[in-house]
Amino acid sequence: MDEPAAARVEAEQVAPARGPAGRVILVGAGPGAPDFLTLRAVRALAGAEVVVHDGLIDARVLDFAPAGARRVSVAKRRDRHSVPQEAICALLVAEARAGRVVVRLKGGDPFVFGRGGEEVAACVAAGVPVEVVPGVSAALGCAAEVHLPLTHRDHASAVSFVAGTCQGLREQDWRGLAGPGRTLVVYMGVTTAGAIAEKLMADGVSPDMPVAILERGTLPGSRALRTLLADLGDAVVRAGVTSPALLVVGRVAGLAHAEDLMGLAALDLAGLTLAAVEQAA
Ligand SMILES: C[S@@+](CC[C@H](N)C(=O)[O-])C[C@H]1O[C@@H](n2cnc3c(N)ncnc32)[C@H](O)[C@@H]1O
Repeated sequence: MDEPAAARVEAEQVAPARGPAGRVILVGAGPGAPDFLTLRAVRALAGAEVVVHDGLIDARVLDFAPAGARRVSVAKRRDRHSVPQEAICALLVAEARAGRVVVRLKGGDPFVFGRGGEEVAACVAAGVPVEVVPGVSAALGCAAEVHLPLTHRDHASAVSFVAGTCQGLREQDWRGLAGPGRTLVVYMGVTTAGAIAEKLMADGVSPDMPVAILERGTLPGSRALRTLLADLGDAVVRAGVTSPALLVVGRVAGLAHAEDLMGLAALDLAGLTLAAVEQAA
């Protein structure tokens, strides 16, 4: 970047976002490390009067908001109860109606399992101006960290994101989302990993399909593990995997820099070129 361009970027970083008073900006904070924030996100934060944020947001991200901005956490409390979504929507609307610039800060991207759609709808229904600043979703950040290409000309020409939460898991129709030529990324699937593996195998996915488990991606103590679909449920328990983590099901998982829980021979079974894997080991 040339000098004037760099200076312009710097000025934009510290200039408060412009626009009418009283509005809501949904901002994606990325998968963890603060330098995943976009310039647009930093600019929105610099203009915030109120920041309503989830858990898992790095304190250094919140530091981009002015010291005088009010910070409101709606993270899960110790008693594991989160603030109800309706209450969050009501808070955003009330603060904006009071004339304040409200940044709603979320991990990853607001529209990927982030309930951003519900918050936008609440603002629109209330006649409150609302804007969305996308963020680097966990799948993209975590995959990049371990050199796992979600698509690849030789291995995957389609990629899907699914939620592995217990609610309605059995009823969800994932047929065709995993298998040869496809990559399936499961968010929130740690506790249901075994059931997810069973579901995919029942739908015809090979038990030998590689799976990468990406735990705390881009955060201190991140781990990347690899196994085969048939072993997924046991592997998560054996390795003591905890949330936040992603499960990446597909041949591309074989290309990740990851610790092999079943040995490299397992990948040979899946027909992957061992050269790439050995290089990563
Ligand atoms: C409620 S969803 C929010 C997703 C977020 N909006 C996004 O775009 O990444 C939370 C889930 O995202 C995944 N996740 C978020 N941050 C992660 C990280 N640093 N490493 C691995 N998975 C992560 C986990 O599956 C976690 O349970």
